[in-house]
Amino acid sequence: MKRDFISIADYSRDWVEEIFKMTGDIKAKQKNGEVYHPLKNKNLVMIFQKPSARTRVSFEIGMWQLGGYALFLAPADIQLGKREATKDIARLFSRYNDGIMARLFAHKDMLDLAAHSHIPVINGLTDLLHPCQIMADLFTIKEHLGRITDFKIVFMGDGNNVAHSWLNMASNIPFHFVLSCPKGYEPDQTVLEAALAADVGKIEIVHDPFDAVKDADVIYTDVWASMGQEEEQKKRDKDFRNYQVNANLMSMAKPDCKFMHCLPAHRGSEVTDEVVDSENSIVFDEAENRLHVQKAIMVDLMG
Ligand code: CP
Ligand code: NVA
Repeated sequence: MKRDFISIADYSRDWVEEIFKMTGDIKAKQKNGEVYHPLKNKNLVMIFQKPSARTRVSFEIGMWQLGGYALFLAPADIQLGKREATKDIARLFSRYNDGIMARLFAHKDMLDLAAHSHIPVINGLTDLLHPCQIMADLFTIKEHLGRITDFKIVFMGDGNNVAHSWLNMASNIPFHFVLSCPKGYEPDQTVLEAALAADVGKIEIVHDPFDAVKDADVIYTDVWASMGQEEEQKKRDKDFRNYQVNANLMSMAKPDCKFMHCLPAHRGSEVTDEVVDSENSIVFDEAENRLHVQKAIMVDLMG
């Protein structure tokens, strides 16, 4: 039976810890210059409906480092669901490839792709979720805090795809997740309710940003308008203006509070230069770990 990686909610804490163990080994091998080719002669096809720097490069390079090959398809290439039905692409690509990584708008298309393909499908972001990002994020927290439980993380801003995958992670692992958003920008009700029902992590929505960040070990933010929401940019800039992560807000958290951002950052909007470039910012460790953690996920699913 093939396995997909569409949502962290489909997996357990044990699996996350197993992937982190593999990630540590794979990262060490790469740092030591060891050749490690568990995916020799395998290939990954990558379908992108949206732009990307980190996801594209980390998957493509990651696959090459594992001894395999990755094929990049830009938004105009196959026009999933327009030029050809998603289920036909799923069946077709299952004949050519060993795995699919996709970055799509509609989450339903990701589920269709997975349902109709005979090879593993990895979610490289949809409007609903961004699971690879949060795997890399929690691994980065483990490196910096020395643990994956019992910390407080405050997600400042929009209840978006990145926030949803954090909620999924908090339904597996006991940490304190606070989402601080303006009214009207709460996360998807179904995702939130499932995380609350799991009763594993402590989950709160706190609209006041200053109340939210008290005692935070990590403050996390993301863009105010995600890909596909560009026409709402002006309204969102107004609605989110009190949610900027700046030095003043950071000073309200724990003294050694880390700053995280999935990137790309809109410097001067959701975060100031002084915070992104500060000593407590771990955004590039986080971005680097996309590579290592995704290599572990690919080995697990495609090896
Ligand atoms: N964080 C992230 O997924 O970056 P890209 O959009 O550049 O892939
Ligand atoms: N929420 C952002 C994440 C980008 C990596 C978006 O979907 O555009």
